[in-house]
Amino acid sequence: MTYDVVVIGSGPGGYICAIRCAQLGLKTAIVEKYKSLGGTCLNVGCIPSKALLDSSEHYFNAVHQMESHGINVGKVEMDAKKMFERKKNIVDTVCKGVSYLMSKNKIDVHYGMGSFIDSTHIKVKGDEGETTLESKYFVIATGSKPITPAAFNYDKKRIITSTEALVLGEIPKSMVIIGAGVIGLELGSVYARLGAKIDVVEFTDKIIGTMDVDCGKELQKVLKKEGFTFHLNHAVTTVKSTKTKATVEFKQNGTEEIKKIDADYCLIAIGRRPYTDGLNAEAAGIIVDPKGRVEVGDHMRTNVPNIYAIGDVVRGAMLAHKAEEEGVFVAESIAGMRPHINYNLIPGVVYTWPEVAAVGETEAQLKERGVDYKVGKFPFKALGRAKASGDEAGFVKVLADKNTDEILGVHMIGPRAADMIAEAVVAMEYRASAEDIGIISHAHPTYTEAMKEAALDATGKRPLNI
Ligand code: FAD
Ligand code: NAI
Repeated sequence: MTYDVVVIGSGPGGYICAIRCAQLGLKTAIVEKYKSLGGTCLNVGCIPSKALLDSSEHYFNAVHQMESHGINVGKVEMDAKKMFERKKNIVDTVCKGVSYLMSKNKIDVHYGMGSFIDSTHIKVKGDEGETTLESKYFVIATGSKPITPAAFNYDKKRIITSTEALVLGEIPKSMVIIGAGVIGLELGSVYARLGAKIDVVEFTDKIIGTMDVDCGKELQKVLKKEGFTFHLNHAVTTVKSTKTKATVEFKQNGTEEIKKIDADYCLIAIGRRPYTDGLNAEAAGIIVDPKGRVEVGDHMRTNVPNIYAIGDVVRGAMLAHKAEEEGVFVAESIAGMRPHINYNLIPGVVYTWPEVAAVGETEAQLKERGVDYKVGKFPFKALGRAKASGDEAGFVKVLADKNTDEILGVHMIGPRAADMIAEAVVAMEYRASAEDIGIISHAHPTYTEAMKEAALDATGKRPLNI
């Protein structure tokens, strides 16, 4: 079969790219090695993790918050089976939604492992045998997999990654999490809220280390109250398992004393690696670096002119919306358009409660660049909306250029920060000043008023409610 574009991988990068290609009149196919479309994000990532986060949040609030609203719910019980079933149904629905979108857009779906024969042909090996596809263009969107060092003895039973943590089928009593990054803290939140004792062993001295330092400190305070214990500045030495438990040994950096924790599970959450296993990229002459990352230029083109790569398999943040933007970018480039991506304005979100969200540069990055900046900050505890809902932890921080007042970064931790960050993205895309945001009407009472107040603070005008 011959196509204009064959996309390899049906995650948010791949399937969005295929849809945009089809919309632009290109004869398009997508290749997926699993039976279910949607990639990491829909099957074992964004969607199932958020489903469990929502269920556990309801449980936590029923146990800890309802009473303060005058609601007596009696004894609250968690039906773990039902929670996991609900999550599975959501995953099934969204994945079927991708299949529907493929047929709606007349995109051929080939199930099976795709591997290059040369730069214009790919072999797809599935349950029903082998097919060869010919195409003018290919888009590699093969995503990523968890990093599981051999020394951590990943066994998928007691020593697990996020993939297994999303299908535990039970509420563990205890879990050791290696890595205080996004996955560790989101999935740790799920099980901490449901009563598990969570120990996090993190190599560096911070949680969510790439984000704003103050956001990390505030989140750490809240999570400690939820039942997290943090072992920062510690290195894991061994991880072992029996049928019923995992044992993690670790020591503080610079010391020799070994500490040991036994837990029901050990979750390895130390990052993900680009996935190109089995792709046979070398047959097409594509340069893949030693870590498996496909090298691309500014236009997502590999060193082979008709082959592009997007999403987790290339440089940059491993985020679904970054992969999607790149998918659209490549489709439009192939169709001869001149698309645009502003990588500085890809927001990052951690779906703990309170949520953490950020866009643009951090203070550390601005200092490193030698930029003269000013800081405006507003705490949620001074906001009527946050008082009404009882979500008073956190703040919004606006960083603006000291000379021009242009907003250079917005960092927030608080209720609905994941949704609120959109205002900052729009503001920064249009190069708004802090004053611009400070003089725009924000509905009262909403959490978004914290953004206006922080912007007023950054301009040097006094915030109004503090
Ligand atoms: P993927 O989604 O990984 O898809 C790649 C697809 O390619 C897979 O289906 C794979 O089977 C297929 N494939 C690979 N090789 C071949 C081959 N040779 N032939 C055929 N098919 C192949 N990001 C967010 O933005 N927000 C979140 O809330 C969020 N939560 C997450 C939670 C968890 C637990 C995890 C693990 C990740 C989360 N992410 C989140 C990250 C997000 O899932 C990824 O950034 C995103 O899925 C990357 O999309 P992609 O299209 O590049 O690759
Ligand atoms: P991460 O990169 O966010 O965090 C990994 C953490 O592990 C870091 O703090 C690092 O210092 C630590 N670490 C590394 N090696 C270690 C070791 N040997 N011992 C102890 N600590 C160690 O990676 P994570 O959490 O696995 O997530 C992977 C990717 O998935 C992220 O990059 C993120 O882009 C994506 N993701 C995004 C989500 C979102 O957008 N809400 C949710 C979940 C995942």
